[in-house]
Order: sequence, then structure tokens, then C-alpha cells
Amino acid sequence: MRTPFIVGNWKMNLTLEEVDSFLDQITNKLPDSNQVECAIAASPIFLETLTKYCKNSPLKSSAENCFYKDKGAYTGEVSPYALSEMGVNYVMLGHSERRKYFNETNKTVNKKLKAVLQNHMIPIICCDETMTKQKTDDHMDWVVNPVAESLNGVSSKDAQNVVIGYEPSWAIGTGKSASVSETQEACCLIRKTIAELYDEKVASKVRILYGGSVNDKNVQELMQQKDVDGVLAGTASLKPKEFLKIVNYSK
Ligand code: G3P
Repeated sequence: MRTPFIVGNWKMNLTLEEVDSFLDQITNKLPDSNQVECAIAASPIFLETLTKYCKNSPLKSSAENCFYKDKGAYTGEVSPYALSEMGVNYVMLGHSERRKYFNETNKTVNKKLKAVLQNHMIPIICCDETMTKQKTDDHMDWVVNPVAESLNGVSSKDAQNVVIGYEPSWAIGTGKSASVSETQEACCLIRKTIAELYDEKVASKVRILYGGSVNDKNVQELMQQKDVDGVLAGTASLKPKEFLKIVNYSK
């Protein structure tokens, strides 16, 4: 069985004071990680605070991006080695905002993914239907390319631990989430793609999340879908009370 997984993606929000207050307010209120695993993805500026906090909490930490080299003359980039050394558990890759504003492609996601795995962290790959030009009449064919290209050269042993997020860009930050049937259809297609690339066993282990205007009102219905193992919440993760509700409604 796949453990439900809730990821709050803070993006480039909050101040250090707000981060401290958020963490304070969720203390002792998160369920055991065997019941629901939860993580916060934060900007590198807050990761030290976050990873220190996570040592005494079921909460896991995630970076929102990293580079594919461990070190060198790459001004402004974030080293996966340094993230791992800091104790970061997950790294989000290929979020639609990274693709839109920073030209992230499936190829760079693939390089970064390998660097993340080499540094013993778990990648969370984000994808949606706008990421391939080969959108055919079969409206769901889009998923094959991002998933296959991102996982190119990755062994079954590593692939089964990867988390995949279906985040339709039209649903991000709009207050209009995908319908439950659209979400299930996309997540099921992602799982089928994994089964074709690897096998059923790997596909049954990969956790697939939905992201895009998730809140405490729609999370339960989304979580009831067979292939939806969790959610990525942006706006709703900025408020501790709402984040806690989302986590607790996902049990
Ligand atoms: O990664 C989650 C995010 O992109 C969704 O944002 O604000 O629609 O929940 P939001």
C-alpha cells in the first residue's frame, strides 16, 4: 500500500518570521508519517530552519529545485550535494513555474533527477498536459514524453521511489482545480506509463500526486481516487490551519 503523501509548496513566499510561526503552529499536530507523510517545499533560504525543525517532527523537507552538478562555478545555483548534507529529503523538479520562467525542460529534469538520486534524496517530478508538442488526438498522450524523458536511464530500483506530480498549469493558483475524474484519468495514465516503461510492480509503488488549487474543501474527494496518492498544495499550504486540515483529511 502507498502511504498518502501531502506536499505543501511555499514557492517564493513567507518571511523567516512567518516560517517560524508556521512551524510553531503545526508542532505536535501532524499525524504519524506511517499514516500520512507530509513535507514542505521551501526556498533554499528557509531550508536550514526547516531541516532543523524536521529532526523532531514527522514533517519532511523538500527543496523546490536544484542544479545537476554537486559543485563548481555555477553562480546562483543550488547544489544537490549541499541540500543532502543539510538533511533535505525531497527535491521538486520541473514545476510548471520552473518550466515557464526558467526554461526547465524534460532533459534538464532528467539530469537533475539523477543528481538528486545520487545524493540520496527523492525527486518529485511535476508534469502536465502543456509539456509536450506531441499532443495527439488522444488527449491524454501528453504524459508519456515528460515521464519517459525525465526517467530516461533511471533503474527500476530508483524509479519506484520517485514521486510524480500531475499539476495542470491552468489549475495552479487559479482557484479552479481539475475535476476528480480528470485527475484520476491523468494519474492513472501516469501509472500506466510507468508500467510500460518499467513493470507493474514499479508502477504500483510510485506515488502520484495531484496539484492545482487544492484546498481543505476538495482534498477528500481527490484523495478518494484510486491513482491519487496525495496532493501538492501551494496557496493553501501557506496557512498552518489549512495545511493541517488538508493533511488530516487525507488520512
Ligand atoms: O506545487 C503546487 C502548486 O503549484 C499548486 O499551487 O496555489 O494552485 O495550490 P496552488
